[in-house]
Amino acid sequence: MNYRLLSIILMTIIIVASVFPQAPAYTIGMSQCNLGEPWRVQMNADIKKAAEAHPEIRMVFKDAQNDNLRQSAHIDEFVRSGVNLIIVSPKEAAPMTKPISDAYRKGIPVIVLDRRVVGNDYTCFIGADNKKIGKAAGKWIAKLLGGKGKIVELKGLMTSTPGQDRNSGFREGIKGSSCEILFDADMKWLEPNARKEMESALSRFTQIDLVYAHNDPGAHGAYLAAKAAGREHTIKFVGIDGLPQEGQMYVKQGILSASFEYPTGGREAIETALQILNGKKVSREITLPSKVFTKENIDKGGEALPE
Ligand code: FRU
Repeated sequence: MNYRLLSIILMTIIIVASVFPQAPAYTIGMSQCNLGEPWRVQMNADIKKAAEAHPEIRMVFKDAQNDNLRQSAHIDEFVRSGVNLIIVSPKEAAPMTKPISDAYRKGIPVIVLDRRVVGNDYTCFIGADNKKIGKAAGKWIAKLLGGKGKIVELKGLMTSTPGQDRNSGFREGIKGSSCEILFDADMKWLEPNARKEMESALSRFTQIDLVYAHNDPGAHGAYLAAKAAGREHTIKFVGIDGLPQEGQMYVKQGILSASFEYPTGGREAIETALQILNGKKVSREITLPSKVFTKENIDKGGEALPE
């Protein structure tokens, strides 16, 4: 074969390969409970970025818009279309247990991210320890307030496990101090709800020392309500999530006294998915570490939570 012919054949192969790139070997369905909050947008972005480094996987994202029925339907669709693995960040524990269990029992590996379901019908759970975060927040707040103070607790959706754990952990954390929770309400993770609940708290109580909100949107909503009432300088605000563009920024601006990091687990979900798809055994529980950001430590990148 002469050199000219060989180079034509090689060029043809290269052109054909670039026009018809190799099809991904695996499809992963990702069911997100909603995309209305920056933290969830960040989770999807983290997943997308990690997945892009692996041409053998194709991601299909679905947004349940905070609706359990829609999220169940998405899981069923993933099963019917034959995805190789499902990643799901469920809205609420009880309603999402059955569809996730059904998919798992049909042999599809399922990674549950951030919010838990009931029982054990999934391959792996990935998330930070919300009880530990709540407890660390309680201890940190009790110290900040010098051991006594009047607190408003704005809770995340109490039918989702992070809300339950951030609540019980916090109460454990302030135990033994003279901190008192004078008002609590379920703001369902949403800033506008938090603002409304805080307006009621402000109208009922002339002294509020601190707001502990289960997420940074909640803490910010409470701050806006206090600001509108001219009381933002007499109240301290603490939240959870610690995104650079949200909680960390509020700490830098002096709006929040602290934000506790709640990592999205997006990168870890893709790493774990690849291990499962490659036939490796993974642990059933992957606990992500957390940090606290305060104005003292933010420039050094925050501080790990004490054990
Ligand atoms: C977003 C969010 C976060 C929170 C997480 C808990 O929907 O509310 O702010 O940390 O969910 O699942």
